[in-house]
Amino acid sequence: MIKLKQVYKAYAQGMLAVPILHDINIEIEGGEFVSIMGPSGSGKSTLMNIIGCLDRPTKGEYILNDVNVLAADEAHLALLRNQYIGFVFQHFHLLPRLSAVENVELPLIYGGERKKERRERALEALAKVGLSDRVGHLPNQLSGGQKQRVAIARAIANNPTFILADEPTGALDSKSGEQVMNIFTQLNEEGTTVIMVTHEEAVAAYTKRRIYIKDGEITQDRRMVI
Ligand SMILES: Nc1ncnc2c1ncn2[C@@H]1O[C@H](COP(=O)(O)OP(=O)(O)OP(=O)(O)O)[C@@H](O)[C@H]1O
Ligand SMILES: [Mg+2]
Repeated sequence: MIKLKQVYKAYAQGMLAVPILHDINIEIEGGEFVSIMGPSGSGKSTLMNIIGCLDRPTKGEYILNDVNVLAADEAHLALLRNQYIGFVFQHFHLLPRLSAVENVELPLIYGGERKKERRERALEALAKVGLSDRVGHLPNQLSGGQKQRVAIARAIANNPTFILADEPTGALDSKSGEQVMNIFTQLNEEGTTVIMVTHEEAVAAYTKRRIYIKDGEITQDRRMVI
């Protein structure tokens, strides 16, 4: 469970603190499927980075699965990320010299698993995203949609509680985007909480709750009746 209370984030610009997020109050329960929408520069990625423990609020409270994130040190944050969170980015962030399966194995190495188990889990994750026939390919031998599916396999290899995706379909054609959203839908049906940023209504339409941000503030938070 994710609980943000009166979260405020500012960046220092010379002597000035420039506020980017303010009065952010969100609770996200296990199993939700949430999209975050809003204009460019409104603070969506900043918020995702805070939720993903890549960054900390300047003020406020963030509780992630009963842990007070503001009180946690760097090592503890890294552990939280590794245990609970899988990240998916717009531009995939795959390592170019590693094959698909080696890319998926990476987070498992940090998790301290044995080589054989790592390989099995990575292959399982790739099978789940429909890429069993591409495991040995390098990223530049894959299409955009396939690269994103490798990135999703990497995100789910650790069985995370939360998937955080920042514009995961932003660089994809509509068909590959649909495939990615179908995978997220399936993962959500299996119990994973999915939180994603998107600019596209058609993509947000897959989600069950939409949060709108403008100028660093939440302007709407709607649960869809399906
Ligand atoms: N490290 C930083 N230092 C200073 N300002 C920053 C930093 N990161 C982001 N900002 C500023 O914070 C604001 C929000 O940025 P953010 O990346 O969260 O927007 P966004 O909603 O994700 O936009 P987009 O839709 O274009 O991705 C922007 O004005 C940006 O310039
Ligand atoms: Mg962004």
